[in-house]
Amino acid sequence: MIPLCVPEIRGNEWKYIKECLDTNWVSSAGSFVNRFEEEFARYVGSQKAVVTVNGTAALELALRTLGIGAGDEVIVPSMTFISPVNTIKYVGAEPVFVDVCRDTFVMDTDKIEELITERTRAILPVHIYGHPVDMDKVMELSKKYKLYVIEDATESFGSQYKGKATGTIGHIGCFSFNGNKLITTGAGGMLVTDHLEYGEQAKFLSNQTKVVTENKGFYHPEIGYNYRMPNLLAAMGCAQLENVNDYIEIKRNHAMYYNERLINIPGITLPSEKNESKNVFWLYSIIVESEYGVSRDELIDKLKENGVESRPFFMPVHDMPPYKDCQKGDLSFTYELANKGLNLPSSVGLTNQEIDKICSIIEACRK
Ligand SMILES: Cc1ncc(COP(=O)(O)O)c(C=O)c1O
Repeated sequence: MIPLCVPEIRGNEWKYIKECLDTNWVSSAGSFVNRFEEEFARYVGSQKAVVTVNGTAALELALRTLGIGAGDEVIVPSMTFISPVNTIKYVGAEPVFVDVCRDTFVMDTDKIEELITERTRAILPVHIYGHPVDMDKVMELSKKYKLYVIEDATESFGSQYKGKATGTIGHIGCFSFNGNKLITTGAGGMLVTDHLEYGEQAKFLSNQTKVVTENKGFYHPEIGYNYRMPNLLAAMGCAQLENVNDYIEIKRNHAMYYNERLINIPGITLPSEKNESKNVFWLYSIIVESEYGVSRDELIDKLKENGVESRPFFMPVHDMPPYKDCQKGDLSFTYELANKGLNLPSSVGLTNQEIDKICSIIEACRK
């Protein structure tokens, strides 16, 4: 089976993890934790990074840090993995669903303003599958209506918007190091910000708001979390980060090769890359149009029969039972993409021969 997206482990992972085991620094204190934070912040170009147990925890911490809670509304796309929407609920706020663009698959920033009410406190752009959201428009609305911007950059590590890393443009950005992401620590996340006070508050919350008193007692002024990442995983993160530039280049090369092979197949729409953006193509994604003659789901079955894993686009979150009654705008493209969008194998370790095989199946399957 050619898998959808699996980790690439080819560097100092064993060496750094062994160092943790040899020195007994396996838990949340240990030098790799600080090192991973510092190196990650430097890599993306942020003032401060806070490592977390996963990307969902980073998003929840971001909302808590900015004081978003009961009675507040947060504008978020319905076409997303459910995690950012759940975190809005975790803090007691309400998601308000906005549509996505047909070509980039991410939040349609022209449809945000009509959803802003006096309860809106934040916009949560999700750079799904790698393409950056139009962040100029988001930041313009943020200034106009005094809204916070929390970027979910979990799927876009390695992408840029006007030369800036996604995740570094809003007030806080969040990343994930789940096994399918560009770099992985097994499970893990990172929160980045240029506002040092937000970074410090997020770190404080992630560590049970622990204040160590003079006699070494623990004092906790707020309700906190244990969202820390252990040194063992941070060690893996440091090793993975050393190879990230290669991974980005490889992912982009894969996307260009897929494009070359698929461009002449009628009914297959290729993923886009807007002028101001650099897309990491985290998951190479196509649209199976009606002109193709075979439905997206039939194509999934055909690929599977031939040993290729693929995945349909996210199902709209606003249709899930916990979110059925939430506020929403027109979601036409969300529905259309949910029915026609398909993610193809995108691991760093994918070969051109495998891409040839996948594209030949897509070519042969057309009616
Ligand atoms: C868009 C999006 N947001 C948030 C997350 C949550 O990250 P994690 O799985 O590390 O909690 C993921 C994926 O895993 C994701 O795809």
